[in-house]
Amino acid sequence: MNNLKGKHIVLGICGGIAAYKSVSLLRLLVKAGAEVQVVITPAGKEFITPVTLSALSQKPVVSEFFTANTGQWNSHVDLGLWADCMVIAPATASTIGKMAHGIADNMLVTTYLSAKSQVFVAPAMDLDMMAHPSTTANLELLRNYGNIIIEPESGELASGLVGKGRMEEPEKIFEVLDRFFSSKRDLEGKKVLITAGPTHEKIDPVRFIGNHSSGKMGYALAEECAARGAEVTIVSGPVSVKAANPAIRVVPVESAREMLAACEEVFPHVDIAIMCAAVADYAPRDVYDHKIKREHIDAPVIHLVKNPDIAATLGKSKREGQLLIGFALETDNEFGNAEEKLARKNLDMIVLNSMRDKGACFGTDTNKVSIIRADGTTLDFGLKSKREVAADIIDAVLSL
Ligand code: C5P
Repeated sequence: MNNLKGKHIVLGICGGIAAYKSVSLLRLLVKAGAEVQVVITPAGKEFITPVTLSALSQKPVVSEFFTANTGQWNSHVDLGLWADCMVIAPATASTIGKMAHGIADNMLVTTYLSAKSQVFVAPAMDLDMMAHPSTTANLELLRNYGNIIIEPESGELASGLVGKGRMEEPEKIFEVLDRFFSSKRDLEGKKVLITAGPTHEKIDPVRFIGNHSSGKMGYALAEECAARGAEVTIVSGPVSVKAANPAIRVVPVESAREMLAACEEVFPHVDIAIMCAAVADYAPRDVYDHKIKREHIDAPVIHLVKNPDIAATLGKSKREGQLLIGFALETDNEFGNAEEKLARKNLDMIVLNSMRDKGACFGTDTNKVSIIRADGTTLDFGLKSKREVAADIIDAVLSL
């Protein structure tokens, strides 16, 4: 695995304890054959010396607008154009705030504002600073500007407190960058919405109606789309799988109604929506506000009411140029049922799973699908890993 050879990387370092970890990141990048230009904030230099960084990167470290003794101007514009990507690690609350609001009072922020390539931001700060609404809002702005946030981990912090705010480990940041350069980038600039997992329909405060969906197919699709350059939002029912790529935003929901509300917010802004969730068709009409006790009720009756059809609802508001993809899980008359759903929900393509195929379906790491396009053409695939199936599905989407 080495996709970083010869790549131009601007490594931005801010003033936080985690700056010591940037040295390891720099070493990993240099060892992989990348050319790294370090840009450090004035506060960063209090934590790590430019001498160490320039020795490892074999380039003078940039920090000031002018080199003091020669008066030479350091061009942030040139650096921004030179970079194949920029990674800011650690990114402090202060720099994140400046980046979000264009406060260009140091070389790092001016370089960021001039950067034409993908920017990765690895925050590191104390848990309370991390949790502050102002930090959250600034990170949200950065995400909206297309930057990829490499989420900090939870763990022991320099303050001695334990919580979220520890910069992601250098090896992990390195992997994110390597992955960025490895994939085909045919979804660059596209926004994708994916629904994944089951829904839980509340019966009482401790019980629900659910199903066996693991979310693995939806998350594999999200990883594939993100690796190919898309900005991905997963609206996810309760699952234990986690998104690995930091470019994936997860909106957690429980019920079908919550899933619909989240999707309706995101759908108008996306180019592609893939409905992979196993949405419960029915929900209890009344939710008990206390736990149902067998001592009190002998034979409780749960009245079910129909849930909204998310795919069909989005299908009604689909605009020119948007693609809506659905899934069909069938036990019999597979193609007939899938074609009916494709038409009824106004889909552009439907991915068919048959319960009759071994290794395809709930909980497994493999799947076997057929794809039916709105023009009636079909594609059949063999049993593959869910990630490979995801790649086939995305290739088919792009063929539309
Ligand atoms: O009608 P059926 O449930 O078989 O359709 C499956 C497709 O519709 C899947 O893409 C699923 O995610 C979507 N769906 C939905 N909302 C529902 C039921 C299904 O979005 N309430």
